[in-house]
Amino acid sequence: MGDQPWLKEAAIVIGVTAEFDEAVQHFEAQPPHRERGARYVYMETGALAQNVHLQSSALGVGCVLVAGFNDSKVKEALRLPSDLEPTALLCIGQPRVV
Ligand SMILES: Cc1cc2nc3c(=O)[nH]c(=O)nc-3n(C[C@H](O)[C@H](O)[C@H](O)COP(=O)(O)O)c2cc1C
Repeated sequence: MGDQPWLKEAAIVIGVTAEFDEAVQHFEAQPPHRERGARYVYMETGALAQNVHLQSSALGVGCVLVAGFNDSKVKEALRLPSDLEPTALLCIGQPRVV
């Protein structure tokens, strides 16, 4: 969404995905019903993104976490099966000197 040049300038873009419905169903019996699985998906995505950020810093490369995207277009671009939802994109490459 918007102008995000790092998406096309990055050396690699890691797409993070989740079996969202599976997670929601797995924790459905635990209150708040239908919310807990979704929380866990977002927590896992955040933890994963942080680890990629830490490793990028250790390697001296830049990393930008992007969560503002058109879900259906990302699903199409990554050729995701219908049960996988994109939760984040991690753009990795040479840090821009400003
Ligand atoms: C959950 C979350 C989602 C984000 N989504 C976007 C995004 O869609 N586009 C974007 O440019 N930055 C997004 N950011 C911010 C960038 O990942 C990054 O933190 C920001 O560009 C500042 O980077 P810097 O501190 O290295 O300058 C998001 C950050 C978080 C924590």
